[in-house]
Amino acid sequence: MSKIKLQNLYFTPYITEEEISTIVSSLVHKISLDIDENEIPLFIGVLNGSFLFAADFIRKYKHNCEISFVKLSSYKGTTSSYTVNELIGINEDVTGRTVIILEDIIDTGTTLHKIYDFFKEKKVKQLKIATLFFKPDVYKKELPIDYIGKNIDDKFIVGYGLDYNGLGRNLPAIYQLTTDIK
Ligand code: IMP
Ligand code: MG
Repeated sequence: MSKIKLQNLYFTPYITEEEISTIVSSLVHKISLDIDENEIPLFIGVLNGSFLFAADFIRKYKHNCEISFVKLSSYKGTTSSYTVNELIGINEDVTGRTVIILEDIIDTGTTLHKIYDFFKEKKVKQLKIATLFFKPDVYKKELPIDYIGKNIDDKFIVGYGLDYNGLGRNLPAIYQLTTDIK
């Protein structure tokens, strides 16, 4: 693997496809142990970044399950200049369900906050959060994160669903932003 360029920035190989696969398997293993055999969990991927993670995750999950996706839509209110963020895409009845959120990466935790807000009023049996990557140096919130695939440095990454200005999502491995422009 070698350095790649997306628009004006360079990225170097950081996490291989093989390591990603191992991390996803270990998350599936840990989560499976916590789910009752008779229960059909509802996994919810957070678009766009988690589409590959969610796809790989459920193919490794060996029991009955459902999958759905949400997206954080940001739009400008018609009467104000505030940007409103809201979670869209949940049509399922989540009452009494075990809901497991699949996030690509938790950085500041803003997205996570929105997710907790959204599910606060729903009468789910339990809400668990699983994230493939976590930046512990950036995260300043108290909200619990139940499953973490891998802690990473506070540096921008792309690949495996994660993008820079829409680019890089198709890369099978993870690349890290470099300041070295040689
Ligand atoms: P938050 O700051 O925890 O709300 O992260 C919000 C979203 O920003 C994540 O779900 C990602 O889609 C995106 N994001 C955060 N860090 C990175 C990164 O290093 N590379 C690409 N996307 C990122
Ligand atoms: Mg995301």
